[in-house]
Amino acid sequence: MSDPSPLTESSVASAADAAITAFAAATTIAELRLARAAHAGEQSPLAQFNASLKSIPAEDRAAAGKLVGQGRARVAEALSAREAELAVAEENARLAAEAVDVTAVPSRWRTGSRHPLSLLMEQMGDVFIGMGWEIGEGPELENEWFNFDSLNFDEDHPARAMQDTFFIDPVDSHLVLRTHTSPVQIRSLLTRDLPVYVVAPGRVFRTDELDATHTPVFHQIEGIAIDKGLTMANLRGTLEHLARAMFGEDAQIRLRPNYFPFTEPSAEMDVWSPNAKGGARWIEWGGCGMVNRNVLRAAGIDPDEYQGFAFGMGIERTLMFRNDLNEMRDIVEGDIRFSQQFGMVV
Ligand code: PHE
Repeated sequence: MSDPSPLTESSVASAADAAITAFAAATTIAELRLARAAHAGEQSPLAQFNASLKSIPAEDRAAAGKLVGQGRARVAEALSAREAELAVAEENARLAAEAVDVTAVPSRWRTGSRHPLSLLMEQMGDVFIGMGWEIGEGPELENEWFNFDSLNFDEDHPARAMQDTFFIDPVDSHLVLRTHTSPVQIRSLLTRDLPVYVVAPGRVFRTDELDATHTPVFHQIEGIAIDKGLTMANLRGTLEHLARAMFGEDAQIRLRPNYFPFTEPSAEMDVWSPNAKGGARWIEWGGCGMVNRNVLRAAGIDPDEYQGFAFGMGIERTLMFRNDLNEMRDIVEGDIRFSQQFGMVV
């Protein structure tokens, strides 16, 4: 440490001035602390003047002590004044940083909107929940046995080619992307106790090109009811109830003979659309029929004891004719503006 300068009026004054200048230059409490250590701490010039008082001749000591005392008093005053100033400044800065402009216009986040297909599947499912049915599920990557064999499609029956199947490599994995929700019929029968009343909405796959009315990935809702003594009348009543819930009290359905390997007899179901574009007409809605005895046997059920019906319809198709849509691409492209037209249900 350099030798302290001699204790004179001007050396004390300049030490005090230096301290006051350093305090003024500090712009934060932290800087001020450093300046205080340098100019008012134990090693500071003023502290050293103070320490040197005892070696001053007695007759000069009182005057020198007064000088040093005045200098230290000036420094202490400047220090606490600057401390108060900086505390206020820091508090103001903190408040400014934390300020909330309660008049600011909030940025608006667009609420998402559920896809109309999801809403429609849920709505159809709810109609059945209301009748005491349960919701069933099955995998989209399905065993060929569930998708075809158990549903009474023969190994080389032409019906297997009715549905354009995505087969999974290697072929001997016997996996397919399910071509319909009907495998959930068997899955429900194998995992539930009788009687069974199940609807299964879900995604299905066929090797169709995407165009205005087709998409390789689409949705169906399957229904299966197995109980004692169910007849075609129960099937018809159930579908009529669904049609009325979906299309209004005036809705009507009609059944036309058809063929499916897993139902016998089988029918195509049409729904009467009074407001269809181009005039009122019957619109093909789905397939149905009495569950084939072979399907019951595949699920280990005695067909003489239990009978039932099944049905399945396309969700995209239902949405299209219910809402007068004529472009499948609008449904699959996922543009939020399309979904929002169906309401902001979340
Ligand atoms: N699975 C049939 C299809 O995809 C529809 C269907 C379901 C028919 C149930 C009869 C019974 O075309």
